[in-house]
Amino acid sequence: MTTPSPAVTPDRIAAELTASRDRSLALLAPLDERDLTRQVSPLMSPLVWDLAHIGNYEELWLLREVAGVEPLRPEIDSLYDAFEHPRAERPSLPILGPADARTYLSGVRNHVLDVLDRTPLEGRALTRDGFVFGMVVQHEHMHDETILATLQLRVGSRTLPADGSLPRGRPVVPHDDVLVPGGVSTQGTSTDPWALDNERPAHRVELASFRIDRTPVTAGMFASFVEAGGYADPRLWTPAGWAHVQASGRRAPMTWQRDGAGGWTCTRFGEVEPVELDAPVQHVCSFEADAYASWAGRRLPTEAEWEKACGWDPVAGRLRRYPWGDGDPTPELANLGQHATRPASVGAYPAGASAYGVEQMVGDVWEWTSSGFDPYPGTRAFPYPEYSEVFYGGDFRVLRGGSWATHATAVRTTFRNWDLPVRRQVFSGFRTAAQV
Ligand SMILES: [Fe+2]
Repeated sequence: MTTPSPAVTPDRIAAELTASRDRSLALLAPLDERDLTRQVSPLMSPLVWDLAHIGNYEELWLLREVAGVEPLRPEIDSLYDAFEHPRAERPSLPILGPADARTYLSGVRNHVLDVLDRTPLEGRALTRDGFVFGMVVQHEHMHDETILATLQLRVGSRTLPADGSLPRGRPVVPHDDVLVPGGVSTQGTSTDPWALDNERPAHRVELASFRIDRTPVTAGMFASFVEAGGYADPRLWTPAGWAHVQASGRRAPMTWQRDGAGGWTCTRFGEVEPVELDAPVQHVCSFEADAYASWAGRRLPTEAEWEKACGWDPVAGRLRRYPWGDGDPTPELANLGQHATRPASVGAYPAGASAYGVEQMVGDVWEWTSSGFDPYPGTRAFPYPEYSEVFYGGDFRVLRGGSWATHATAVRTTFRNWDLPVRRQVFSGFRTAAQV
């Protein structure tokens, strides 16, 4: 009932470490000193904080914890402790400037490659199958996605390279859905070597039959909800969602504007363009997702339903690492890793379908679920409580599946993300479900 582990070798770890660092530096390379040090929104850190924090996390875990090396810059630790300093406060801290931050990161990395060479990938739980190296790689990729969200909020001309091409979609009937029969399945994993603590352990769940959309809700479908007066109808919103929409004045997804001819434009990394109506809607909060689902006579899937529809293989009786199987993502299977800075049209990845025929569950947009962020039975904080444990039971909602901005190494069937219900600066969309 469990997923086989992919082989983890020192060469693979070294390649992953190099790839995540190349990605971070390439994202920030076109930005000048002012862009790196200013704060574009109280929701986000100055970009140079993210950069040095990436290096500090790597130093804490790989140099100090694994190798017992003395701190390189002990005086900066508290500046990069995300718990000590909320994002809004970070611009006022005496953080490293861009040149110092880059020097610090490369200094840490030089030691890390030596540590990797002499660390056995067995025995101690922290280093078994390279877990802690994988945790550091995933942490860097998560911050790279945060950097992309910051660049989306930034006002100014585009700094990212031109998009790579994406496969074409196909016409999809709204809420064409599939039946997922009820029964027992597994949620979470006990064997995936780089799964983080909140994904563990694998445990049995029993679900009733449900239906789930074959593809995510598109911008065009969401525009119909807006045009039908969805934002003005309190019956569609939860009390908290209605209070928020009233207080915030939201009337459409983030960055959407009327184009003057009855259609919509959006702003993508500083450039105004027509909204792509056949692509998944993105930059909606969970309240907006809930209201749309009510309007459509449907609901959001629970987290357990989402995971079953994504990964459960009813013939083999086990959870697949990805919807299509256990093999790594490729550009034909999923839109990941900022190959393009946008979601692909719906229907673009038929080869990436799950055992139940559900498409685009991994990549394109994070998908809101109706579930709060709660611990799995028998889970334990590892290796530190501030990654997951301190967030359990709070006012968070789980998002699943990663977005176009998520790196393939930082997502899988069991991966869990969470955010406050009002947030929409993340690359968030949704699909709907229905009772049978
Ligand atoms: Fe972090």
